[in-house]
Parts: sequence; structure tokens; C-alpha cells
Amino acid sequence: MTLTTRPYQCPLTLFVFLTIFTTCIISSPTIHHDYCVIGAGPSGLQLGYYLQQKNRDYVIFERSNVSGSFYLKYPRHRKLISINKRNTGKTNKEFNMRHDWNSLLSHDDSLLMRHYSKELFPHADVLVKYLNDYKEKLGIKVQYNTEIRNIERKENQFTMDDGNGQKYTCSKLVVATGIATPNVPQNVDGMEHVIGYEDVSINPEDFEGQSVLILGRGNAAFETADAIYGNTNVVHMVGRSRVRLSWSTHYVGDLRAVNNGLLDTYQLKSLDGVLEAGLEEVKIVKQNGKLHLQFKEDEEDPVFSLDNFALRDPYDKVIRCLGFTFDKSIFNNKTVITPGRGRAKKYPKINYNYESVDNPGMFFAGTATHSLDFRKSAGGFIHGFRYTARALHNLLEWRYHQVPWPFITAPVTQMESTILKRLNEASGTYQMFGILGDVIILKDNGVEFVYLEDYPINLIDELPQRSGHNATRVIAIVMEYGKDFSGPGNDVFRINRATGEPAEAHHSNFLHPVLYYYDKLPTEQDMKNKSIKDLLPHPRLLHHIVEDFLTSWDGWTSHLLPLRRFLEEVLDQDLRSYFAETCMKLALTHTNVPLSCQMDFMEGQGLVPAYSLAQLAKDSKLLI
Ligand SMILES: Cc1cc2nc3c(=O)[nH]c(=O)nc-3n(C[C@H](O)[C@H](O)[C@H](O)COP(=O)(O)OP(=O)(O)OC[C@H]3O[C@@H](n4cnc5c(N)ncnc54)[C@H](O)[C@@H]3O)c2cc1C
Ligand SMILES: *[C@@H]1O[C@H](CO)[C@@H](O)[C@H](O)[C@H]1NC(C)=O
Ligand SMILES: *[C@@H]1O[C@H](CO)[C@@H](O)[C@H](O)[C@H]1NC(C)=O
Ligand SMILES: *[C@@H]1O[C@H](CO)[C@@H](O)[C@H](O)[C@H]1NC(C)=O
Ligand SMILES: *[C@@H]1O[C@H](CO)[C@@H](O)[C@H](O)[C@H]1NC(C)=O
Repeated sequence: MTLTTRPYQCPLTLFVFLTIFTTCIISSPTIHHDYCVIGAGPSGLQLGYYLQQKNRDYVIFERSNVSGSFYLKYPRHRKLISINKRNTGKTNKEFNMRHDWNSLLSHDDSLLMRHYSKELFPHADVLVKYLNDYKEKLGIKVQYNTEIRNIERKENQFTMDDGNGQKYTCSKLVVATGIATPNVPQNVDGMEHVIGYEDVSINPEDFEGQSVLILGRGNAAFETADAIYGNTNVVHMVGRSRVRLSWSTHYVGDLRAVNNGLLDTYQLKSLDGVLEAGLEEVKIVKQNGKLHLQFKEDEEDPVFSLDNFALRDPYDKVIRCLGFTFDKSIFNNKTVITPGRGRAKKYPKINYNYESVDNPGMFFAGTATHSLDFRKSAGGFIHGFRYTARALHNLLEWRYHQVPWPFITAPVTQMESTILKRLNEASGTYQMFGILGDVIILKDNGVEFVYLEDYPINLIDELPQRSGHNATRVIAIVMEYGKDFSGPGNDVFRINRATGEPAEAHHSNFLHPVLYYYDKLPTEQDMKNKSIKDLLPHPRLLHHIVEDFLTSWDGWTSHLLPLRRFLEEVLDQDLRSYFAETCMKLALTHTNVPLSCQMDFMEGQGLVPAYSLAQLAKDSKLLI
């Protein structure tokens, strides 16, 4: 951090003293940091952890006096929807993060949600406690009570102030302010009669014997319905499109089972109900203290004047649960922030490296980056963006400090065991399926490979520029659901939903690993040209590993053998392990011996000997 004096030097002459006095007090010196992060929510803290680890010059500005202040208020009924699964039957820390949706990443094992709550869906206050402990224990630099405004990009840096006359400049800016401004539709008449989710009473007694209409269909809407449907006459819910159940879409932001009690009372005809209507067609009218939902234009239309219109009874309360949008008011009016496209319009538009499309050097972290995987993966939630915040950090390290993406190098005889270890424990690629993947770079010498974890696969065409690793031949490993399996209304319980047959691996529906081999890096054009259903451009070779009920890809014939065959084809090598005696015999009768024999021979020359699968099983504790 450096202090630069403002252009005015306070003059000592008494004559001008009085006139300049105020200016000197108000404009205290501008404070400069290399990195400024705005917002100490879970994503700001996660990024802060990595900046702290690398000793970068950074600060996190937070307008509240605590970290994670979003969770002081939300979710309103205080039950988190992120899973705190404390038991998996395994001791592997990395594996267990697949089922811990609340903790942030760190080296400190005491900073895990399992030590804070026994509830599968903990109380939101517990998360606030956790996040503040995380900040304290890890020494993350948060400047509280600092509300940043007037952000502008000027001469390759960012300027901003805190509303108390303090100005800041930053070389790089990371906006981690969340998506926390309630979405209030402007074009619906009568919204003034409606209570917002942000203000709604959380005391069910306040709804005793009332008829309630909820606008919206998401988790907040159903969470609210769940809290009151034991007290009300009826709860009706309207939304534009059909209910999207999380278990049928495999998207954690869709309606979660923990909130969906009202679906029962609807389908069992217990007076509650759910129906579809676009809000732009309706208005809310107050008559005799009751609220009526009416159609705007088409009152003449016979459909709407039918005397059995579903919402013809008046309501005592109408509640708006229509989601949240990104708050652009923190920027001044010279700063352009283009909204995301289509359904992602509530998010700022960013590139796959989390950088603003409008402002170079301005990055986003956390739920504000969810335009990249909206309704697909977990990037809008703690268990997803903890990994994308780390990926952002890795990208920044290479771009600004010439530190390449973290990697290991190993002989190709260890490729299969390295992959298997990751398939069976990696949490980042598991949570951020379809978005983050592992990348194997085959070295020109033919005997070694470089392994990168949790890389944003949409940047694979720019791998050298983004990661600092030159690459031509690569294998990308991504977790995927079956292409036409997930979707609102799809029958995900159908009898033939899963396969156990390795030959049918490409028809796997549940989350399973897929390997894409490219003999040359895909180009920007290849990325643009790929079909919307494909994660990556057509590879040279493609390998699906058959889905597994236990998510343990450790079957000798179902998983290991087909994987080895695939790698042998990619590498054009025999990857089997041989006893020394066999190697000796082969050496006497063949011009070329298999790689594992060569590797053993090279052991003395600094290369590590081939790693056996039995060794793998022992090391990775998975099979204990
Ligand atoms: C109702 C609701 C319930 C949710 N429940 C869950 C859940 O149970 N589990 C889950 O994983 N996700 C949940 N989410 C998603 C949730 O948005 C994210 O998990 C999380 O809060 C986002 O983290 P973040 O760090 O991106 O932003 P936030 O947590 O929103 O943090 C942003 C921070 O920036 C600060 N800030 C904003 N503007 C400024 C400024 N100008 N200057 C300084 N500081 C500023 C804010 O005070 C805040 O502390 C929920 C979302 C909603 C809307
Ligand atoms: C934060 O401010 C609130 C009131 O605004 C106060 O009650 C609380 O004690 C403060 N917390 C901390 C940690 O300072
Ligand atoms: C931008 O904001 C400044 C200061 O608030 C104001 O004077 C100016 O008119 C605004 N410009 C535009 C184009 O809105
Ligand atoms: C990558 O390739 C470039 C250009 O060919 C070269 O200058 C650079 O040294 C290479 N980097 C590494 C790490 O091999
Ligand atoms: C893009 O895809 C189309 C059809 O899918 C194909 O005909 C065309 O050759 C592709 N272009 C490039 C540059 O790959």
C-alpha cells in the first residue's frame, strides 16, 4: 500500500489557510493498492485467502461491520440450502469437499462447516460465524464500514471513494458484491400493494387465517410458502414458466426438495396451488382492503372473463419473490457495465476469465460470475464459486506476476493412476461440472506429462496465454451429465436411467468423467463454432467412463481397463506394468520395450518409477 499526496499541498500561510482548510480535511491522501476486492462475502474472502497466501498487496472493502453480511438477513427463514454432509464414510479431505457445500477452501482443517453445525441444512447465523472465523484465523485483510462508490477506470487503474471523502486507486479491481438487489418489475401495476421477500414477516402467526398469493417460483418463493402454509387458508403461487425441480434439472439453484412442501398440498388438493402466468399480463388491484389479481388488457377476452378463473378469489397478502439483480450503482456514470445475455441479464457480462467485457483489469468473483454457468453448474453458490475464485486467482498470478498455473510433471506411466486419483476424489471438477476440468499436457519428449487441476475449460484454446504452459497435445477431463437427461419435467426416475455397461459408457446419464483428447489445441474458431449442446469442440478421441452408482471409478474392468486402452491409443504406447524379469525377456527379443520397463530403467536417472495401482489404493485412502 502506498500513500500519494493529492495535488494540493496544504499551504502554511495563514492568509490562504482558512479558504483551503476544508479541502485539506476532506481530501485525505489517496490510498493505493495493487488489488482491491469489493465485498467480504464468501467469494471475496475466498479470493482474499489466496491473495494473502501469495503476499499480494490487496484489501477487501466491506460496507458492513462483519463478513458475510448477506447471511445476516438471507435466506429470510434462516435455513441454508447448501448441504453440510458431515459423514461420507471416507477420511479423504478432498473427497469430503464434494459433499460440504458451505466451507471455503483453506489449509486449516478447523475451518470446516462440519465443526460448526450438525444440521444438514445449517442455520444462516452459523455461516456468518464461520465466515468471520475464517477471516480472523487466516488473517485476511478486510476494511469494514467502507462502502465503495463512484468506481471508474482511469489511466489503467481504478479510482473510487467511500462516501466519506477517502479516495482509493487500485491497479486491479475484483467486484465480489454479490447479486443482492431485489428485482422489482417496473411494468406491473399495483406493485405498491405487494410485500417484498426482503421485508416479509418471518413470523407465521402474521399469516394466520389469511389467503396469500406469492409471485415467483424459486427457492425464496417456496421457502416463504413453506414457512406459512400451516397458518394460511390458501397459498397460491404464480410464475412465468413451469416449476423447475432441482432433482430433475441437476441445477442446485432450481427448486430444492428441502423447500418444496407446497407441491404436496397442491397435488393432494389441500387448497394450495401453483400456476403459470406472465406477470406482464396482470395487475394487482386493492378493493375493500383485499387484493385482486386482474388481467391488464384482455378483460374482454373470453378466457379471462370466465367465471372459473383460477385466481378469482381475493387475497389478504401478495408477496413478491422475484429474485435479485446485480447492483450497478457502485460505478459512476462513465463506467459501462453491459448486462449478460438473455436469462443471464441480471449478471454483469464477463469473459471466461472472469474479466468485465467493458473494463479491462476489472474482474468479478462469486455469485456475480454466474452468467457463465447460469442454470448449468454451481458457480452461483459457495460450493461452486470457491473454485472459480481460486481459478481467477491462478489466472491473475500468471497474467500479472508470471507465476504459471499450479502443476505437476510426471512420467506417462503414472498418467492413469494420476487421473484415477483425481476422478475419485477431486471436488472442484465435481462441483463445477462442465465448467472446470483437469488438463493434461503431453510433453514433446513423449515420456512426460504436465497436469493442471480445475482449469476453466472454456479457455482451453488460450491455454498457453492464460496458464503459462505451452501446449499442443492435451487431454481435458470434465464431469458431465447425459446430454438429454436433465430438464424440467424430464423423467429422471425412468427405469433405464442408468447404465452399468462399460460399452454403453457414452450413454451414461448421471455425472461421470469424460476425456477429450486433442492432437492440437482447439482454436478460438473451434470454440465459437461448437454446438450449444457440446461442452468442447469435437476432439480427436473421446472417452466416457461409465457412470457409477457409488461415484467410485475404481472397477478393474469397468473403469480402469477402458481408461488404460484409451490412454494407450492417445500415447501410442503399451502402458501395462511388467515385472523386471519380463522386461528383461522383452528387451532380449524386441527392439522396443514397453514404457514401464524403460521407466524402471530410467529410475537411476532421476525419473520416478511407475506407480502401481495397488500403491495408489494405499495412498489415496479411498479404499480403506
Ligand atoms: C435468498 C437467497 C438464499 C441463498 N442461499 C444460499 C445458500 O444457502 N447457500 C449458498 O451457497 N448460496 C446461497 N445463495 C446464493 C448467494 O447469493 C451466495 O452464496 C452468496 O451470498 C454470494 O456470495 P458473494 O460473495 O458472491 O456475495 P455476497 O455474499 O452477497 O457478498 C457481497 C458483499 O459485498 C458487500 N458489498 C456490496 N456492495 C458493496 C460496496 N459498494 N462497498 C463495499 N461492500 C459492498 C456486501 O455487504 C456483502 O458483504 C442464496 C441467494 C439468495 C438470494
Ligand atoms: C455491527 O453493528 C451492529 C449495529 O449496527 C452491532 O450491533 C454489532 O455489534 C456490530 N458488530 C461488530 C462485530 O462490530
Ligand atoms: C454523471 O454524473 C455527474 C456527477 O454526478 C453529473 O454531473 C453528470 O451530468 C452525469 N452525466 C451523465 C451523462 O449522466
Ligand atoms: C513457450 O513457447 C514460447 C514461444 O514458443 C517460448 O518463448 C517460451 O519459452 C515457452 N515457454 C515454456 C515454459 O516452455
Ligand atoms: C463450423 O461448423 C459448420 C457446421 O457445423 C461447418 O460446416 C464449418 O466448416 C465449421 N467452420 C469451422 C471454421 O470450423
